Amino acid sequence: MVSELDFLDSALAAISSASTLVELDRVRVHWLGRNGVLPEAFRELATLPATERNATGQRLNRARDAIEDAVRKRRHVLEAEAVEKQLARKRIDVTLPGRGTLPGTLHPLTQARLRIEAYFLGSGFTIATGPEIEDDFHNFTALNMGPDHPARAAHDTFYLEETVLLRTHTSPVQVRALKRWPPPLRIIAPGRVYRRDSDLTHTPMFHQIEGLVVDQGITWAEMTGVLTDFLHDFFTDRLNIRFRPSYFPFTEPSAEVDLECFFCARRGCRVCKQSGWIEVLGCGLVHPQVFRQSGLDPDEWSGLAFGMGVERLAMLKYRIGDIRWFYDNDLRFLTPAPVASGP
Ligand code: PHE
Repeated sequence: MVSELDFLDSALAAISSASTLVELDRVRVHWLGRNGVLPEAFRELATLPATERNATGQRLNRARDAIEDAVRKRRHVLEAEAVEKQLARKRIDVTLPGRGTLPGTLHPLTQARLRIEAYFLGSGFTIATGPEIEDDFHNFTALNMGPDHPARAAHDTFYLEETVLLRTHTSPVQVRALKRWPPPLRIIAPGRVYRRDSDLTHTPMFHQIEGLVVDQGITWAEMTGVLTDFLHDFFTDRLNIRFRPSYFPFTEPSAEVDLECFFCARRGCRVCKQSGWIEVLGCGLVHPQVFRQSGLDPDEWSGLAFGMGVERLAMLKYRIGDIRWFYDNDLRFLTPAPVASGP
């Protein structure tokens, strides 16, 4: 049998040179396992003379304790090393700047529309809608633009079939509302409209909000009052508004409303096409012919109507220089500006 010192030294040397947990376990089994060196030595005790058995047994016990202790300590070291190695592999650089979160926001056009709707809902209007695919009757004829009316040409219409088209304005909802609900009524009709047109201030699809008030004794003064009050509410700050005489076949008299160009303070720039003013809506008193086409008596009823461009209003409110940015889906545009200068 090996002397106790040889025994212990070579066991401890093997333990301390084990460089992985697997290797350490192999060493442990070799010395302490069921058929290992130590159990074998304990078995040999029986063959020793009785006088030596006691002292040898005690030495073996101490050796076994020492080996068990060494294995435990070595295991702690190797385990700690393994954790360190793993951490080193998966190191997270806590000094890297965070990516931040990008909270969702409503599209500037939605923000503008909601704000416009809130004003009119608060003034007793209700919201009406109509189809984007319209027929010739509602888009033109009922609005006093008969088949040969020259104003049709100005609409740059997308036709789907001979008498089916993408509505060029929200005014057909006026006709649908008049046919559906007996007056008096106050509605607004937000929605998409389509025209063959594309530049800094025009896109082939854009949004309008139509307004219609029908009652007895509606006057021009009521119309300018409603629109002036709305524009002051929408733009909160003081701004110059002008009602400019205009022409629409479905209103008489008619006007367009211009706002002072925010971009150049009326000096003239490319956004306002050097005019200093930006047109934001058309309006007028409902033409008798529209009442007749909708089955109402123009001698009994009077009304005011308006149609505003949502993009134009949002451009002025949020100071957006190009109408096409609304549809590019560039987050730099969609996120900060309208929120920062929002309602
Ligand atoms: N529909 C007209 C347009 O698109 C605007 C308008 C609406 C004018 C209602 C008068 C009354 O330009």
